[in-house]
Parts: sequence; structure tokens; C-alpha cells
Amino acid sequence: MNLIKSVLIVTGAGSGIGRQVALQGARDGAAVIASDINAATLEETKQMGDKEGLQIEVYTLDVADKKAVSDFAEAIIPQLKGQKLLLVNNAGVGLFSGNFYNTSQDDFEWLININLWGVIRMTKAFYPYFIKQNEGHIVNLSSVFGLGGFANQTAYCTAKFGVRGFTEALRMELIGTNIYTTCVHPGGIKTNIMRSATPKGPELTEAMHLKAIATFDKVAMTTPEKAARLILNAVKRKKQRLVIGNDGRAIDSITRLFPVAYSKIFKRKMDKAFKV
Ligand SMILES: NC(=O)c1ccc[n+]([C@@H]2O[C@H](COP(=O)([O-])OP(=O)(O)OC[C@H]3O[C@@H](n4cnc5c(N)ncnc54)[C@H](O)[C@@H]3O)[C@@H](O)[C@H]2O)c1
Repeated sequence: MNLIKSVLIVTGAGSGIGRQVALQGARDGAAVIASDINAATLEETKQMGDKEGLQIEVYTLDVADKKAVSDFAEAIIPQLKGQKLLLVNNAGVGLFSGNFYNTSQDDFEWLININLWGVIRMTKAFYPYFIKQNEGHIVNLSSVFGLGGFANQTAYCTAKFGVRGFTEALRMELIGTNIYTTCVHPGGIKTNIMRSATPKGPELTEAMHLKAIATFDKVAMTTPEKAARLILNAVKRKKQRLVIGNDGRAIDSITRLFPVAYSKIFKRKMDKAFKV
């Protein structure tokens, strides 16, 4: 899909990958509608775009809020006027809660409501427009944690496997149409995701969180700029599955080659990085 004369809607555009998708999408010629729950960081994205004369409209939007998402779609769809739509469901959070035993049901539900329901809700809200136009592209951010299940990440993996299943099911339903999906599985991307994940478990301390942030910063190989470029290139080439980074490709291969043994292969690494 060519981005010129298209509209690009991106969620979670106040930071990391989403901010870069907004800026680079606007540079590529799309009219960008950027949203985030955080109005202040979203405004920073807008100002970065303004400095380059880019067209970026901003909306504060919480993808976990059912009514806010449907109000947002109701406000935006009439403005689209038949233009090609690229929807990038990027907003997401991390949860630093330790293992499943120490993760409360409320925290689990909180994460699913953003990382999985946020993607489904946004897609559902804009789907009638895609179907009516019979063109466009939906990009959903899963993760390498949607390729394998990892210790101390039960809620996150559940959401990201869900995003993958949802996107791949749509992919099959949309065969023969002009509507495409891309499921994105990034490895570590140097963003604020671990920094923003507040310690939630009963035995967690700030020091443990700081250690996890330091580990994440060390192992996250790819910049958000590069991740966004790869995502937009995948859209241009109608690539429907995108794994990002050498770390991402290694996890992709190992989980496929050793669909059971990968748990033991990765356990020591995961315990070191995230055990509390
Ligand atoms: N950084 C990584 O290593 C990595 C790896 C795999 C997948 N991902 C996924 O990529 C996506 C982007 O993450 P990132 O690394 O850029 O993180 P980030 O923390 O830098 O940015 C996430 C953005 O989402 C926003 N957000 C959070 N909750 C929201 C809500 N309820 N409604 C709307 N916006 C909300 C935040 O305010 C923030 O601006 C996420 O879905 C994440 O799970 C990231």
C-alpha cells in the first residue's frame, strides 16, 4: 500500500514505536491521526512533526475504554471520505509482576484490556469502513512473546498470542479482498516499555524493577526508528508477518524448531532478566 494520499491512524503514538510510525508515516506522505492515552507525550510527537512541517492530528484516546474507541471512530470515519486507511494498533503496556502466582487477576485483566482488547476494539470500530472501501491495511503489534510463552510474562504472552491469532484469522478471512493485515513480532526495541511498567507484585521492589530496566536496555537491540521503518516497508510490500531484529528471528526459529524444548532453552535467560 502506498502511503501517499492515505490516512494513517496509529495508537500509542506518544512514545517509542508508535511515535516513530506517526513521524515516518507523515514523512512518507500519509495524513496521520496519532492517538495516545498520554496527552502530554502525544503533544511532544505533534511538536516534533510540526518542526518538520508534517501533517499530524492528535487525539487523546484510551484504547481500553470501549466508549471512547467507538466515539473516536464515529468522529473520524466521516472525515475519511473514501481515502485509503492504514490502521496501526500499536498501543501497549508491560506488566512487571513476576510469575503467574504473584500476578493479581486485576492486573492480568488490566493488561489484556489494553494489549488485546484494545487491538480488537479498534479493528472492530474501523472494520465497516475497510469492508465498504474494500481496501486498506491493518497492522497489529504482537511480539516475540506472541511466538513463544515466557516465564514471568503470562499476561503479556496471553495478550500477544491473542493478537497473533486474531490477526492471522483476519488474514484468512480477507483473502481475495484488497484489505491486508500485518502481524508484527518485534524482539527487544529500545523504548520506554519496561520503564513504564510499574512494579505490581507483592514481593516486588523498585530495585528489582531498576535491574530489569537495565537488563532490558542492554538486550533490546533495535531502535524504535528502525522498527517503524520496517513496519511501514512491510505495509508497502503487503508483507503479512514481520519479525523484527536478530533476537526476534532467533526466538522465531527456536520456538518453531523446538516447540516444547524452547521452554528449557530460554528459562535461565528469562529467570535472570525478569525473576522477582
Ligand atoms: N519495546 C519492545 O521491546 C517491544 C517488543 C515487542 C512488542 N512491543 C509492542 O510494541 C508496542 C509499542 O510499544 P513501545 O515499545 O513503543 O512502548 P512505549 O511504552 O514506548 O509506548 C507505548 C505507548 O502506548 C501508550 N499507551 C499505553 N496504554 C495505552 C492505552 N490504554 N491507550 C492508548 N495508549 C496507551 C503509552 O502512553 C505509550 O505512549 C506495544 O504494543 C508493545 O507491546 C514492544
